[in-house]
Amino acid sequence: MQAIDPAQAGGPDVLVPVERPVPPPRAGEVLVRVAAAGVNRPDVLQRQGNYPPPPGAPSIPGLEIAGEVVALGDDVDPDLLGTRVCALIAGGGYAEYAVAPAAQCLPVPDALSDVEAAALPETLFTVWTNLFERAFAVEGDTVLVHGGTSGIGTMAITLGNLFGLETIVTVGSDEKRAAALAIGADHAINYKSEDFVARVKEITGGRGCAAVLDMVGGDYVPRNLQCLSEDGRHVSIAVQRGASATVPLFDIMRRRLTLTGSTLRGRDAAFKALVTEEIARTVWPFAAAGKLKPVMDRTFPLAQAADAHRRMEEGAHVGKIVLTMG
Ligand SMILES: NC(=O)c1ccc[n+]([C@@H]2O[C@H](COP(=O)([O-])OP(=O)(O)OC[C@H]3O[C@@H](n4cnc5c(N)ncnc54)[C@H](OP(=O)(O)O)[C@@H]3O)[C@@H](O)[C@H]2O)c1
Repeated sequence: MQAIDPAQAGGPDVLVPVERPVPPPRAGEVLVRVAAAGVNRPDVLQRQGNYPPPPGAPSIPGLEIAGEVVALGDDVDPDLLGTRVCALIAGGGYAEYAVAPAAQCLPVPDALSDVEAAALPETLFTVWTNLFERAFAVEGDTVLVHGGTSGIGTMAITLGNLFGLETIVTVGSDEKRAAALAIGADHAINYKSEDFVARVKEITGGRGCAAVLDMVGGDYVPRNLQCLSEDGRHVSIAVQRGASATVPLFDIMRRRLTLTGSTLRGRDAAFKALVTEEIARTVWPFAAAGKLKPVMDRTFPLAQAADAHRRMEEGAHVGKIVLTMG
């Protein structure tokens, strides 16, 4: 099969198609003929050599796929054969075939194209587990999400609208501000021209928000804490401005704030299976009804994976970038 499997770390140019054997599905796994594979920021970090695949994961990048199940490993429900699925995987998506744990597959409803389905799992699992589980966001809560037009940010806006959250997002330009509002954010703040702490206070009438989903880190963390209401929750999912921060402990005590965070890729299969089952119950009915769709930026053929990464690194994209296997 054709796959992207760079021999060494480097710039986008290392992403050239090569021949690789079709991976055999092991017990509990399915083999998927990949129609489309989502591109995520962690793939860029992996390509640069800063985010190695966890032990046992393929070196081929790609954390989410959609396509047809064409072979089954042992102990897999035979009804899965021939069905259209999308799946969260620990790697291997940038290829014509990929294996996925059957317990991490979701059926693709008619309302979703393969490209749309491939763009969902990574951000859906990440936002669901961090915003709704770790941060306990519930209907009526106001939440602050940085990177409002990112893959993650657009999913947070989409889920926020489906589950009755008031979303405030930050973005780095007026064009992205308009895009975030068009996608459905309740408020969008251009952090380059406005102080997001002051704006969040203003929007919430001085109360602050219930949760912050933070992909920025560094000096944003103490500022994020200022945006939280009493008993507010701060969830770290990335550290683009720095992996450490100085936080005001007495303020955390006085206002009973919670600081937490997580990474999805390294979690074990049992956890991912539980989340899949939960998403199938709570979120997937919206996908079947045509109410959950990813915000799409662009697609690129697999052979142009380098251009897909360049587009992500330039940072002008809004929503998801997806590779198609054609
Ligand atoms: N913990 C996990 O399990 C997990 C899982 C998936 C992804 N992630 C992380 O989540 C982040 C988003 O992933 P993605 O695939 O959605 O990537 P993406 O679409 O490339 O988004 C990155 C976003 O970060 C924003 N950004 C970058 N530098 C910033 C800064 N200094 N200040 C404020 N905003 C900044 C950019 O917004 P502007 O252009 O508006 O500045 C951009 O929208 C990545 O950092 C990724 O590693 C974590």
